[in-house]
Amino acid sequence: MNRKILVTSALPYANGSIHLGHLVEYIQTDIWVRFQKMQGNTCHYVCADDTHGTPIMLRAEKEGITPEQLIDRVWHEHKADFDGFHVEFDHYGSTNSNETKEYSQAIYRKLRAAGLIEVRSVEQFYDPVKEMFLPDRFIKGECPKCHAKDQYGDNCESCGTTYAPTELINPYSAVSGAQPERRNSEHYFFKLSDPRCQKFLREWTRGGSLQPEAANKMQEWLGAESENKLSDWDISRDAPYFGFEIPDAPGKYFYVWLDAPVGYMGSFKQFCDREIKEGRPINFDEFWLPQSQSESGMDARRQGGGDADIPVGRLGAADAANNADAPSVAATELYHFIGKDILYFHALFWPAMLQHADFRTPTKLFAHGFLTVNGEKMSKSRGTFITAGSYLEQGLNPEYLRYYYASKLNGTMEDIDLSLEDFVAKVNSDLIGKYINIASRCAPFITKYFNGQLAADLEQPGSANGLLKSVWAARLQLESYYETREYSHAIRLIMRLADSINIYIAEQAPWARAKEGGEYLNPSHEFSVQKSCSISLEAFRVLSIYLSPILPILTKFVADFLNVPSSKWEHASSTFSLHGATIKPYQHLMTRIDQKQIDAMIEANKESLVPAPDSHSPARHAEAQQHAIAPIAETISIDEFSKVDLRVARIVNAEHVEGAEKLLKLTLDIGEEKPRTVFAGIKAAYDPEKLKGRMTVMVANLAPRKMKFGLSEGMVLAASGETPGLFILSPDDGAQPGMRIK
Ligand code: 2FM
Ligand code: ZN
Repeated sequence: MNRKILVTSALPYANGSIHLGHLVEYIQTDIWVRFQKMQGNTCHYVCADDTHGTPIMLRAEKEGITPEQLIDRVWHEHKADFDGFHVEFDHYGSTNSNETKEYSQAIYRKLRAAGLIEVRSVEQFYDPVKEMFLPDRFIKGECPKCHAKDQYGDNCESCGTTYAPTELINPYSAVSGAQPERRNSEHYFFKLSDPRCQKFLREWTRGGSLQPEAANKMQEWLGAESENKLSDWDISRDAPYFGFEIPDAPGKYFYVWLDAPVGYMGSFKQFCDREIKEGRPINFDEFWLPQSQSESGMDARRQGGGDADIPVGRLGAADAANNADAPSVAATELYHFIGKDILYFHALFWPAMLQHADFRTPTKLFAHGFLTVNGEKMSKSRGTFITAGSYLEQGLNPEYLRYYYASKLNGTMEDIDLSLEDFVAKVNSDLIGKYINIASRCAPFITKYFNGQLAADLEQPGSANGLLKSVWAARLQLESYYETREYSHAIRLIMRLADSINIYIAEQAPWARAKEGGEYLNPSHEFSVQKSCSISLEAFRVLSIYLSPILPILTKFVADFLNVPSSKWEHASSTFSLHGATIKPYQHLMTRIDQKQIDAMIEANKESLVPAPDSHSPARHAEAQQHAIAPIAETISIDEFSKVDLRVARIVNAEHVEGAEKLLKLTLDIGEEKPRTVFAGIKAAYDPEKLKGRMTVMVANLAPRKMKFGLSEGMVLAASGETPGLFILSPDDGAQPGMRIK
């Protein structure tokens, strides 16, 4: 039966680049989706950028652009990275969309109507300079346990203790450096402690939607029946916040994690609307309303697209009840691929939201483990925090990584390791040495001696016949491996088959027989050369179908060279065999990895060299290198350098200066009793409003200079070059006014 499946991968944050850790999930999902499609199932794969929250808001501010500009730029970078690794979404959206907003608000209203929203006053740290409440990650201070300095507000990286930000000693705002105040504000809570939620989650988490180890974890979090361990979830944040406003709550925004999973729905809605416009209607409700309802509720009026037809859970049920003649449909399936770190959100908050807003809940969550590189956590200093862009820039084939990840992945939440040495060995010796080798050894003989024509009869008594039979017969086993995400088993089986084909080729040694005849094949050997090569190429064709979810581009080339249509899963049988077919001349299919490319990639990712997120493309690198930098100035001694007293300064105020074309008047706090005034020639590059509260660097011992507009008591540092733009410097988070720069 044709299944109808909707698949998602977790939505990456729009404040960072895609790296090889992210790609484990997208490659894992993409393989699964491609397999489902090859099987003839209807399978939609959607994803989106996760765009809201404080870090994105502050980063945009730091870059002097709007959050919308930032997320638009990052969207394009992410999309290019995914395309580069052949991750083929049916739609890639953004949570900052009308659709996601409508669904988030609709879900919220439903929860409120069900009595599951409560407003409570919460005391939190407030940054009086930045005039905002501070998320835990933006408060730093001394660990209350081990007294390590500069620890985040939620846990200590030095001793591992977790605590409330209010427990930090000498807390400071990582945004402005200011000492935070405690202030009260009203927050909106989703009442997960409500008996209805607890009961539902207890049942849902045991209902087979989770992997066994995830289900166990959930039971731990839920506690025993009598315990009621789940506490209410704070779903609001105060302005300023980049996100969606909460209905009827001015100045309150949905916490990013409320609307992030709703982005799955929003992105899918955009996809449905696009498909409808192109004459390929997909029914949104069928995938998101509870099954019994959507089966009878396939209301054609819903398929018109546009914002007006956002369904709100069971609000559509009245229509459905009137539609007695609706066709019966297969139950749809909904799968979320996620990392194990976000299980809590997907296995508790998300199903509870959906359930109590009358939407359907996921069929299954597929959680995977983390990626380590060379057995360790990815590290910027070791150069193993490898961005997707830097991998592609080295000219490394993305299908190497897809193959390698597949060879490691299974259906559990175990971590997987990318050992770079093993990566090179596996790709070169297995993928190329075993699989590609079959075609490169056999196809040239068929072209040279038989004009591309394969033997008409591939049946042969003895081992060859058994060989092909075992290759065809592996289909069912591989089907089950793909379905259960046991890709490593699939690869192992495929490579075992490749081994036996190579043994067969070695036994037949077509090259030896061909050599005896020189340019013309000895007629007595003609039959055996054509036949053994044809059998091997048929086996190669079938292996290519088996590998096609993992290596979609390579296997497309293979299909083209073998002159067969791009593969469907069912084509991996004897019915579609190559007997009597004509193939095109063999062309080189894949090169081996050169260790030098790996070394260069690691170098390129070492912390100081990590490219800015918008500088991935080789073209941009080349362009950058063409601009000669200004000559380096005369050498000075360290003593000479230390005469310059550089200090971290907080821009307390910034304003235009009447009559000045280029200057802004800055008021800078460097921890002295009185702030300093500095006139800086940065008017063309900065809106003064955006500078307020920002940290920068100033020369504090420059002789004061009397200017037309007043006394300038120092200088702020800014970078500029041959290309347009002026960029004032900022210290890293945590630096405080007055700190010396050495
Ligand atoms: O952990 C993350 O990277 C989140 N941006 C994942 C969101 S998944 C979904 F809920 F949107
Ligand atoms: Zn500590």
